[in-house]
Amino acid sequence: MAKKMLEGKVAVVTGAGRGIGRAIALVMAENGAKVVVNDVGANLDGQGHDETPAQQVVREIEALHGQGQAVANADSVAEWDSAQRIVATAIDRFGKIDIVVNNAGILRDTIFHRMTPEEFDAVVKVHLYGAFYVSRAAIPHMRAQESGAFVHMTSTSGLIGSIGQVNYAAAKLGIAGLSRGIAGDAARYKVRSNCIGPHAFSRMIESVPGQTEEQMQARAAKTRPDQVAQLAAFLASDSASDFTGQILGARGNEIYLYSQPRPIRTMHRGEGWTVESMADTLVPAFKSSLTPLERTRDVYAWDAI
Ligand SMILES: NC(=O)c1ccc[n+]([C@@H]2O[C@H](COP(=O)([O-])OP(=O)(O)OC[C@H]3O[C@@H](n4cnc5c(N)ncnc54)[C@H](O)[C@@H]3O)[C@@H](O)[C@H]2O)c1
Repeated sequence: MAKKMLEGKVAVVTGAGRGIGRAIALVMAENGAKVVVNDVGANLDGQGHDETPAQQVVREIEALHGQGQAVANADSVAEWDSAQRIVATAIDRFGKIDIVVNNAGILRDTIFHRMTPEEFDAVVKVHLYGAFYVSRAAIPHMRAQESGAFVHMTSTSGLIGSIGQVNYAAAKLGIAGLSRGIAGDAARYKVRSNCIGPHAFSRMIESVPGQTEEQMQARAAKTRPDQVAQLAAFLASDSASDFTGQILGARGNEIYLYSQPRPIRTMHRGEGWTVESMADTLVPAFKSSLTPLERTRDVYAWDAI
């Protein structure tokens, strides 16, 4: 039997009732972790509440790996008090918390000039505030035990570019900053924090307009949540002790390590700059190095394998 890479660990996986979160909960349990399967059971736009997806995943884990390995929780990540209850479930049921996977997510896509404050707020609340609230609830426990690992789901929507997702892109790039910040602050007590930019067929990807039935079926076969889940479980394991403050990606059988922003060109002008001198000098100097306004599909132009 394969070695259990997360034996003895306790994990909270948010948004684990379906899609990528469900796969992460299953892979973590398979690797020996005890799992809090959190999910409000919301629609894609964040509305609605249904406890059955989380309960169903708990039943799947229990069927495969025995009773007591998983517990369902239906609190929202998007409020301070309910996020505290998610982490308290791990402590009450399993006595500690070692791993937090901030995976819960919603979409409210619309072109920027039509985006309402509510659409911006709802998406930032679940993704960015949700990641903050759940991480913040867990950190005192991790600090006390001097170990712990966070895995947060970011997206190429923010890292690269997308259309009609200003709210989502802002939240997801915010998560990359949050993760990097946690990694810096928590290194002194041996807690790690990393991001994954996943690509996996789920209802979120099903909602992308303009796909044919054949394209959707091909994507579902090639980019599966369980492939992302293996990376999440690895990053949460002690064997990833060298990984913190990093952004990785998973798409089909490919794993990516992302660069993070550093200056790529510099120009010094002894007498200082004016608007005019920038126009004369900066434009020709930097033009060939400007980051093109690409979207995810331009950068991932080859088929996933
Ligand atoms: N699928 C992809 O290719 C892809 C690409 C980039 C990023 N992501 C990110 O990966 C994560 C998982 O996405 P997915 O594709 O599996 O989506 P999904 O819609 O299948 O699953 C998201 C889950 O989060 C739950 N959820 C929503 N709001 C919640 C809240 N307030 N509290 C607790 N749970 C809540 C939902 O009920 C749902 O079960 C998301 O953060 C998403 O932004 C996915």
